[in-house]
Amino acid sequence: MSATDPVLLSDSKEIQERFSRMIRETLSAIFNSFSDDSAFSGIGPYELREKIGALGFLPEQGKGFEKVLEETEKEILPHLLRTWSTKYMPHLHSPVLTETICSELIIACFNDSMDSWDQGPAATELEESMIHGLLALYGFDPEKGDGCITSGGSQSNISAIIAARDWYCARKFNWDVKMNGLPPEYTKLRIYTSEISHFSMDKASHILGMGYQAVRKIPVDSKCRIDVKAFAKMLEEDVAAGLYPYCAVATFGTTDFGSIDDAVGMRELCDRYGMHLHADAAYGSGLIMSRQFRDRIKAISICDSITVDFHKMFLLPISCSAILVKDRKLLECFELHADYLNREEDEEDGYINLVGKSMQTTRRFDALKVFMAFQTRGVDGYGKIIDTAVGNAMYFYKRISEDPAFMAPVEPELSSVVFALKSGDEVNKKVRRLLLSEGTVIGQTVMDGRVMLKFTLLNPNLEHTQIDAIIKRIKELESSLL
Ligand SMILES: Cc1ncc(COP(=O)(O)O)c(C=O)c1O
Repeated sequence: MSATDPVLLSDSKEIQERFSRMIRETLSAIFNSFSDDSAFSGIGPYELREKIGALGFLPEQGKGFEKVLEETEKEILPHLLRTWSTKYMPHLHSPVLTETICSELIIACFNDSMDSWDQGPAATELEESMIHGLLALYGFDPEKGDGCITSGGSQSNISAIIAARDWYCARKFNWDVKMNGLPPEYTKLRIYTSEISHFSMDKASHILGMGYQAVRKIPVDSKCRIDVKAFAKMLEEDVAAGLYPYCAVATFGTTDFGSIDDAVGMRELCDRYGMHLHADAAYGSGLIMSRQFRDRIKAISICDSITVDFHKMFLLPISCSAILVKDRKLLECFELHADYLNREEDEEDGYINLVGKSMQTTRRFDALKVFMAFQTRGVDGYGKIIDTAVGNAMYFYKRISEDPAFMAPVEPELSSVVFALKSGDEVNKKVRRLLLSEGTVIGQTVMDGRVMLKFTLLNPNLEHTQIDAIIKRIKELESSLL
């Protein structure tokens, strides 16, 4: 190890000065890699694998920070994805607000953990305060509801499904899943979600011991929203066949199309059959900040639980999500006491331990990013960011709908547009690969068996002229292939 590398932060001014220099050098390495406006270097997988493999694993003697930073700057940074580029638009994977990069530095420096009050006093209180605010923001009563910051939409969804299953089994079979495991009827439990919903529902059902067979996929209409009539028919048939529908998931923003399910129609059916209604708003939750479009998700408050992802439309660094529940009892499924960690006697005296609401034990202080972004931007600043993203999707959709070279079957409700060149699957696939090699990254998916391209527009710096330029480039590449 180099003699100048401090092992830990401390109150020593000398250490602080050395650490500040490390941060300055890191920043300059980052900025040196901002070579142009492309999103990616365009390197292919085999060449990159070789480069990365040559970096080595664990040397006998440490090389010191400067040397390691130099190698990282030379070999790794140039081939990282530049999410801030307006040429990056394939996934629900966002660029990040500058103030939240500073939050990450604070989180890493202090390394508080969210499991018990004595591992993060201010962190615990801030997360609780943010959860309280989020409950009100999404239309839940903060005095009755509860929530927890999670690692992402998949974890938020599985948390909701565990809570829904345990709640249903207690009510329907007088069965305590936490104590006894799955009830004898477990093979007959069913969860309902749209055929284009996120695969985290299938993963959750597998992990929870009920398998993919327990996930009933409801067909969607021409706007990619759940067909509520088909859902009603499915429920009727399933109940007649002796099955137990315990939960339905309304997606507020499907991954590909950004379509928003009819939660009002689904709520009516869930009430009729005694089911939990979960809102997977991993994508669409950001619309709450928009004065122009927030009504599109107003039905979110009639759901029993909500997944909110901050590392998508909210532009926070990975990872940051929340699960919110209307009735705080739902999160009791995660409560468990350990003598070493979360003693009940401490909790009676106000030392809250958030481990009792989470699937995780050690957990990051991600609530700080939400706090710093909300305080920095306010509703006004966030509203402009969200409105720009949705406005750009509307603009792009209009442009390609008017162009005979393209098809775009679904009008966007959020900020993604699925489209295709009419010249066929192979051309669409090749155009995407060629764009990637030029440093423009766009998405690809399948609709009705056809290869489609996809723009997921989250970047508020993207301008209409840049959208026009990409449309032009796609057509040029198509011509070169025909
Ligand atoms: C609708 C929806 N739900 C859930 C998820 C999973 O979120 P995460 O990737 O944060 O686990 C995604 C991811 O894209 C999504 O689009």
